[in-house]
Amino acid sequence: MNHRDDPVANVRPQRVVLGVGGGIAAYKAAELLRRFTEAGYDVTVVPTRAALKFVGEATWSALSGKPATAEVWDDVHDVPHVRLGQEADLVVVAPATADLLARAASGLADDLLANVLLTARCPIVMAPAMHTEMWEHPATRANVATLRARGIVVLDPAVGRLTGADTGPGRLPDPDAIAQVCFAVLAGQPRDLAGCRVVVSAGGTQEPLDPVRFLGNRSSGKQGYALASAAAARGAAVVVVAANVALDDPAGCTIVRVSTAEELRVVMLAQAVGADVVVMAAAVADFRPAQSAAHKIKKDDSGSVPVIELERTADVLAELVQVRAASASNAAQLIVGFAAETGDESNSVIDHGWVKLRRKGCDLLVVNDVSEGRAFGTDTNEVTILTRTGATIEVPPGSKSEISSAIWDAVSAVLATP
Ligand code: CTP
Repeated sequence: MNHRDDPVANVRPQRVVLGVGGGIAAYKAAELLRRFTEAGYDVTVVPTRAALKFVGEATWSALSGKPATAEVWDDVHDVPHVRLGQEADLVVVAPATADLLARAASGLADDLLANVLLTARCPIVMAPAMHTEMWEHPATRANVATLRARGIVVLDPAVGRLTGADTGPGRLPDPDAIAQVCFAVLAGQPRDLAGCRVVVSAGGTQEPLDPVRFLGNRSSGKQGYALASAAAARGAAVVVVAANVALDDPAGCTIVRVSTAEELRVVMLAQAVGADVVVMAAAVADFRPAQSAAHKIKKDDSGSVPVIELERTADVLAELVQVRAASASNAAQLIVGFAAETGDESNSVIDHGWVKLRRKGCDLLVVNDVSEGRAFGTDTNEVTILTRTGATIEVPPGSKSEISSAIWDAVSAVLATP
């Protein structure tokens, strides 16, 4: 719900502090500011001194309707270095530079934003942006780990073109995507996945027949992406293994792109090492052409049609369960499967789900009724979650992000069970 429609929230608009770090992506924070003000939030911008070299005070004041300063010495009578943090409902920092992450991790209080980060008792979201080398440096990795362990949502940067000619992880995620995470956090999303490493597969695999044709399926990746961004909003470090997904990247997640079932298998097995939760939301091909032709298959004048021989692919979910059983580093891992089912004369969708849960050996199975094309490519879904201990959780119809929340609630309940 947009909080302007919420009669309780209307009593006092929710307060957001937008911290802006000194990076070239500071100009994108102006877009983020617009998202908040248009949605009715009361926003105070707190730039760093370096941020003001990129975008000046006039822009922040004009867009937020309030003064914007980096200093603790302005309006001292108002004690802003304490008040702003204490009164905020959310602090979001975008871009969060390597320097800012380091200052936040070590608890420095050398400008107004650092003071806000120390005095805030509300959720904090940080959206890093920097050069790849800085993001990958052990010092930054350690600072990010420290901040995440304290419950701060630190989004992973997007991958792409950076300031110069270089490309790689380090771009500020799209302002819309950051705003979605913030809105989810403001809507009371729990931060119960803080400190967890989560791997989610999404989309549908494609198995080549020849250089131009493939056997594929109708999965869009929407549910997997919604799960990934919901996990990031709940504080997890998220890797998404995306099979042929044509959607905008979910904010704050690391994306690894794959195409075939075998590529997905290799990447999932590697990423699952040491992960706390693995979710197989991707639709993985069960069969692939036994041979993929090196050249385009041509028709001839005889009218004959090619016969395509298929072979089985590996069952990635079942293999993840086997690997967990055999490896100490994955022993406590929670594995979630999805089942797209249609009922038949003798068995309901749920009957098929129980058989699949036992066959695959996963901890939770999210069962999706896909009769008559339901679920594929749509923005809504309706699922039932089956648990290894025999519980059935009916999730009412809802948006894919609402369904994601219910799935993470179920995951969180299992993680909290000793
Ligand atoms: N899955 C997998 N590897 C495969 C096929 C499926 O890891 N080769 C995973 C899916 O990601 C999903 C779960 O297994 O989490 C169930 O997928 P589904 O297609 O419903 O089940 P199948 O095992 O293919 O069974 P069937 O199609 O025979 O019902």
